[in-house]
Amino acid sequence: MTPLAALDPTGAPVGILYIVAFSLFIYGIKLGTHPTSARRGNGIAALGMGVAVATTLAQKGIGNWGIIIAGIVIGSIVGAVASKRVKMTAMPQMVALYNGLGGGAIALIAWSEYRHWIHAGETVSLEILIPTLLAMVIGSISFWGSSIAFGKLQELIPGQPVGLPGQKILNGFLLLALIAGGVALAMNNGPDDFSQPLFIGMLVAAAALGLMVVLPIGGADMPVVIALLNAFTGLSAAAAGIALDNTALIVGGTLVGSSGTILTLEMAKAMNRSVANILFAGFGSPVAGAGGDQEQRPHRSMNAQDAAIQLAYADSVVIVPGYGLAVAQAQHAVREMADELKKKGVSVNYAIHPVAGRMPGHMNVLLAEADVPYEQLKEMDEINPELSQTDVCVVIGANDVTNPAAKTDESSPIYGMPIIEVDQAQQVLVLKRSMSPGFAGIDNDLFYDPKTAMVFGDAKAIVSEIVQELGSL
Ligand code: TAP
Repeated sequence: MTPLAALDPTGAPVGILYIVAFSLFIYGIKLGTHPTSARRGNGIAALGMGVAVATTLAQKGIGNWGIIIAGIVIGSIVGAVASKRVKMTAMPQMVALYNGLGGGAIALIAWSEYRHWIHAGETVSLEILIPTLLAMVIGSISFWGSSIAFGKLQELIPGQPVGLPGQKILNGFLLLALIAGGVALAMNNGPDDFSQPLFIGMLVAAAALGLMVVLPIGGADMPVVIALLNAFTGLSAAAAGIALDNTALIVGGTLVGSSGTILTLEMAKAMNRSVANILFAGFGSPVAGAGGDQEQRPHRSMNAQDAAIQLAYADSVVIVPGYGLAVAQAQHAVREMADELKKKGVSVNYAIHPVAGRMPGHMNVLLAEADVPYEQLKEMDEINPELSQTDVCVVIGANDVTNPAAKTDESSPIYGMPIIEVDQAQQVLVLKRSMSPGFAGIDNDLFYDPKTAMVFGDAKAIVSEIVQELGSL
């Protein structure tokens, strides 16, 4: 014990400090709802986490200071360096990794607490045992599932759905085994030869379930899976908070659980797919016919010079960014193009689709990095009514989010998905490398519309050429 560890865990100061901590979490999330305040919100939520950690460490009974300080120092250095170095396009796997570590930590805490009770010769009451088992099982699923998500996005393992024959039956069997193990421990969990091996067996079964559920999901669906696993980690933390009687953990875990669930549902809605379809349909397998005969259909193309002239003579231009803009890292070039156009008196706005790219807010983050003013970023519902009066829509590395089949073709896999209605604009320029499909693996009729001109090439290279041309006009 050190003089630092002086607070009574059940005393009022701890309760008040935890209330301060989770009030800061909630305020941070509130600020996160707008791009201009999101950075501040992140800082405030981090401050809340600092208060929660300091309050926990200041309580009586906290020991092992060597290990605690080593953990804080190593964790802070690794976290700070990784956050500085990560590329914007690698953010989803970074979130997967951090989220998985959170779930893994909760599973280990649950295991350690269980060992502690058993070694103390105690039988664990049901009101403690149930949340402990939930924390262990859900945390373990989240750790292993997130590790697979990380591996797929980092291309350490194949991104395609990987399935074993009879996989769903095996998953069902693992789930039943976990339920049976939980019931057996509820009936008898005293200090005997049987309880600990059963607990460890359940930890392993949960790990296998996490691996088996995520392996058959295609790499491109991983952002949705990560949001779902994030919700899982939150729930496991809340369960651990109940077992440990820690208010900050209960509230923080519940916030993560509910916000992760809302994000998952919102992403699924914007893709017009159910969460079950994302988890079990093996989307991301090659789609029959994709990438095949679309090269045969007639389409118009032009070079960057002609595209620049068309843009320079427009009154209004709407830029529609998509995944290819992120891949090409064309955000700075796009900002320069908008600046050149504004110098020529052209009004420029950006149309932001909620699932353009591969992670929530992907386009907002990229364009913010290039200092594009927020007021020029228009949400889909705001910009769609304006598109019929727009002279030129420039689609940069976007595909599915502009596909009119979502409105007109009932047989299309994206039918019903809300889109940026680029086909309503007077003229359309599509900047991409080829006629290849996007994430959904389907052809896009917009590319064959007589008012559309394809400008082929890497987005950054073409936009930079257009900037040069605009400068010389
Ligand atoms: P996509 O439909 O995936 O299309 C991206 C296009 O970018 C491709 O057709 C590709 O064509 C082009 N491209 C790739 N690299 C390029 C480069 N270097 N330069 C220029 N173009 C390049 O993207 P989207 O329109 O943004 O739609 C997003 C899709 O992802 C939706 O189907 C959505 O449901 C799905 N999704 C989104 C999320 C989130 S949260 N955003 C999560 C999971 C799935 P070329 O190969 O011909 O260049």
